[in-house]
Amino acid sequence: MVDFQKIKGFIFDLDGVITLTSKYHSRAWRELADELGVPWTATLAERLKGISRMDSLEMILDAGGKTNGYSDADKERLAAKKNSNYLACLEQMTDADILPGITDFLEELMAHDYKISLASASKNSPKVLEKLNLAKYFANIVDPAKLSKGKPDPEIFLRAAEQLSLKPDACIGIEDASAGIQAINAAGELSIGIGDAETLREAAIHFTATKELTLAAIKRAMQSIA
Ligand code: BG6
Ligand code: MG
Repeated sequence: MVDFQKIKGFIFDLDGVITLTSKYHSRAWRELADELGVPWTATLAERLKGISRMDSLEMILDAGGKTNGYSDADKERLAAKKNSNYLACLEQMTDADILPGITDFLEELMAHDYKISLASASKNSPKVLEKLNLAKYFANIVDPAKLSKGKPDPEIFLRAAEQLSLKPDACIGIEDASAGIQAINAAGELSIGIGDAETLREAAIHFTATKELTLAAIKRAMQSIA
C-alpha cells in the first residue's frame, strides 16, 4: 500500500532526468570505446547509464573482452580522458538545457515543503547544477565519492534519505536508468522511471517524459497502484 500522504521527500537522479547530459556521457564513452576497439552497441550504451565512471570503464573493457589488458594506472588515464571529453561537452550548457517541466516541478515541491535531494553517480553533478542554475534547489547532494557501492546498489538512495532525515518509505526516487530504478527499489523507496517503458519496467510508476512530473500526476499514479 503506497500512501501519497506519507511521502515527504523527492530524490532525483541528474543525468537523463534533469538534463540530457546522458547523451554527452554516451558520446564521450563511445569515443573511448572506438579508440579501444570495443564495439559500441545500443545495449552497452543503455547498460552504462547510472553507472560510476570506473565501473563504466570496466563494463566497456569487459564488453570488448579486454579486462586484463590494462593496469590500474592505464584505467585512471582512460577514465580521465573520457572525463575531459565530457567536460568539454558541458562548456556550452545553460539553463536552456533543463528538461521540460523540471523547474516547475522543483518549484512545486518547494512550495509544498517537500525535501529535495540529488542522488547522482556523477562527480560532476555540482558543476552541472551550477551551469543549469538549479543549485538553489539542491541543498542536499549525496557525494558519490563517499560511497562504497554504485547503482544498482541501494546505498546512494539510502544515504540521500538519511541526509534528509527521512525513512526510505517516505521518499520517491526519480530515475531514467534501469540500474537506478533497481537501486531505488532495493532502498525501499518508491521508484519513478522516466523514459522508455520497457527499459524501466521495474519502476513502480512510469512517465514517458519529465513534463509529466507533477504532484497531481504522481498522486494519481500512486492511487492506481495502491
Ligand atoms: C551517472 C551517469 O549519472 O554518472 C553515467 O548516468 C556516468 O553515465 C556517471 O558515467 C559518472 O559520472 P562522472 O561525471 O562522475 O564521470
Ligand atoms: Mg540517469
